[in-house]
Amino acid sequence: MSEILRLDRVSRHFSGLQALREVTLAVNKGEVLGLIGPNGAGKTTLVNTVCGVTPASAGTITFAGQDITRIKTYQAARLGLSRTFQIVQPFAEFTALDNVAAAALFSQGHENVKTAREEARAHLSFVGLEAQAAQPAANLTLAMRKRLELAKALAMKPKLLFLDEVNAGLNSAEVERATKLIHELAASGITIVMIEHLMKVVLNVCSRIVVLHNGRLIADGTPREVINNPAVVEAYLGQQYAQRSAAR
Ligand SMILES: Nc1ncnc2c1ncn2[C@@H]1O[C@H](COP(=O)(O)OP(=O)(O)O)[C@@H](O)[C@H]1O
Ligand SMILES: [Mg+2]
Repeated sequence: MSEILRLDRVSRHFSGLQALREVTLAVNKGEVLGLIGPNGAGKTTLVNTVCGVTPASAGTITFAGQDITRIKTYQAARLGLSRTFQIVQPFAEFTALDNVAAAALFSQGHENVKTAREEARAHLSFVGLEAQAAQPAANLTLAMRKRLELAKALAMKPKLLFLDEVNAGLNSAEVERATKLIHELAASGITIVMIEHLMKVVLNVCSRIVVLHNGRLIADGTPREVINNPAVVEAYLGQQYAQRSAAR
């Protein structure tokens, strides 16, 4: 498998706080990689660092053979790096359609708004929001706004798509629907890095899993290897199961 993204000893600190510590990681073209770890582990920071939101303090990042360590967010988007946001942030007064059309216009310089809207409609239909196209984004439910995020990310024509907790806050039917979409995206050839707390979903869609803990990569392997790794159980999975039994 060929590599599409590589992080080499990437660190990021915020004042005194070390959010990423010398993370070395390769993402292969076409894979669905799960990125897991406790809250505050540095997962979102990793995405932000790759996409140019919070540049690396040290280390290098390569995407499709190009050094993107110091890239700006708009450049990352145009190169084919796209992401959904953990905290969904649509333009609230724009319609669902125009939120997606804006992303299409931004990333590809459509000749006019009409063709951008046509393309946006296709993405909305893919995520099952065609009936909401004319609704202001603010009127959509959380599950719909999460799917809108996905449609916006797709309008950027990604080669690599980061999904940051797209299932958080959704009920089980909504999670099932989102999981099906992710399978379809993967089948279309987009490389996916998925941050996800629901292990059921991670095990269902990911061919490989990496684990972050306190900014450090502590495991990288097949789902079976990772869930049986004592360091991962200690840092994350044990705590996940403990929380679940406490909630019962
Ligand atoms: N922009 C920022 N400024 C200051 N601290 C940040 C910023 N972004 C993240 N952090 C801190 O970095 C650490 C990792 O956060 P984050 O990457 O959001 O974790 P995760 O997504 O794994 O829950 C946390 O301690 C968080 O408070
Ligand atoms: Mg996060």
